[in-house]
Amino acid sequence: MSTGADPDATGPSSFGRGQLWHGRFDVAPADELVEFTQSLGIDQRLLVDDVACSKAHVRGLHRAGLLSDDELGAVLGGLDAVEMEFRAGELVFAPGDEDVHTAIERRVTELVGPAGGKLHTGRSRNDQVATAFRRYVVRELGVLADRLVDLAAVLADRADEAGTGDAAAYLPGYTHLQQAQPVLLAHHLMAHAWAFLRDVDRALDCRRRADVSPLGAGALAGSSLPLDPDGTAAELGFGSRFENSLDATSDRDFAAETLFVCSLVAVHLSRLGEEVVLWSTDEFGFVRLDDAYATGSSMLPQKKNPDIAELARGKAGRVIGDLAGFLATLKGLPLAYNRDLQEDKEPVFDALDTVRLGLGAVAGMYRTLTFRTDRMAASADSPHAAATDLAELLVADGMPFRAAHAVVGALVRRSLDEGLPLADLVAAEPQLGERALELLEPGASVRRRTTPGGAGPGPVAVQRERLAEALATARRRCGSADADRALG
Ligand code: ARG
Repeated sequence: MSTGADPDATGPSSFGRGQLWHGRFDVAPADELVEFTQSLGIDQRLLVDDVACSKAHVRGLHRAGLLSDDELGAVLGGLDAVEMEFRAGELVFAPGDEDVHTAIERRVTELVGPAGGKLHTGRSRNDQVATAFRRYVVRELGVLADRLVDLAAVLADRADEAGTGDAAAYLPGYTHLQQAQPVLLAHHLMAHAWAFLRDVDRALDCRRRADVSPLGAGALAGSSLPLDPDGTAAELGFGSRFENSLDATSDRDFAAETLFVCSLVAVHLSRLGEEVVLWSTDEFGFVRLDDAYATGSSMLPQKKNPDIAELARGKAGRVIGDLAGFLATLKGLPLAYNRDLQEDKEPVFDALDTVRLGLGAVAGMYRTLTFRTDRMAASADSPHAAATDLAELLVADGMPFRAAHAVVGALVRRSLDEGLPLADLVAAEPQLGERALELLEPGASVRRRTTPGGAGPGPVAVQRERLAEALATARRRCGSADADRALG
């Protein structure tokens, strides 16, 4: 059995064996316990948020008469000093620091003396950690929403370039990854933009639910001291305070939801990435990547690899893993706080970091790539792409669609089986004839997609205006929510 850490090595003597909770224990914690349970390596990025929450807490204690003016000044000064040390890279953690929260309290007390011992009055790490973490998540969801709008705006800009007029670029649209009907390139690009705008909506919606302060819930049941959860929530810029102290300390819905939001963003990035991987192959040849956003091969001199697109695809796996893993952590937990909940931060940090970096990289890649619109058009101008238009011509004559489908299907089959040009067969087909040949002209098919939300020039121009409005609304929503918050 381990004899535990050397008391002298685990922290300053004012903290006994270094742990803030050492009072009822006879021996120092075992090394294995410390190593296995500490979270400082992960949660130190919450330091600035925790300092802000701690300041709000001690101001609340002061309002309640639990801290004198001098004590308040000392503790606030100590908290500022800890933050400055941290920002300067000069904060030295002690072996007894289990997590960033204990580290801050230990260091404040070292700096300001006994007044530091009042910092944790009426507070538990259970409400403290949830408050700091929510504050971090709320801010990061705003950053995520901004990055999402940035990417959607890049796609909209490229859609402008692709155009909706007579010279608009078009490419084959695919179902089952088989050529189906031509679509405007602008239409295709905006399809991705709408998905990212839905992600913005989800991120901001998730942020609204995360924006609740648990501070004042204590370990699980509140306090006998005259705390002011409404006041601390307002000071921290939260939208509201918790309603139930058990829920406040055990609820990690905001973390799970954030992980889902990130997962869906990652899935969208992955699908876009897969498309760029395909489009940049010699076989498709629809795009050329900018050198700054592509990589070479260490062995094959001719290679230009789409690594950003591949990792946009590949990293979706770990973000989905973050979500699945954390849901598994949560599923069996009884109310209220359980130490398992400490496992909330690593996946959330990882998922937010991964999608933030991914959005930036994909935006850069997309902003700089070159569309090879000649290749796209050549591929889309296969006469077979107009098969539906031929069938719709017969429908306009009054033929039932199913019969028209069969007539055109038979022509396509003959053309493929006998190696005859479809145009010749169409001209020779009495029900179609010469009049139908204009449907097979390059670019003709896509111009015929005229219904609202469709892939042709008319509806795509309308869609572009609606996307501009949606982008402006999304920008406003990101910005206004930031302005409402007093985040330091
Ligand atoms: N580091 C822990 C976490 O992130 C906080 C400690 C919670 N409370 C406790 N009683 N051990 O969840």
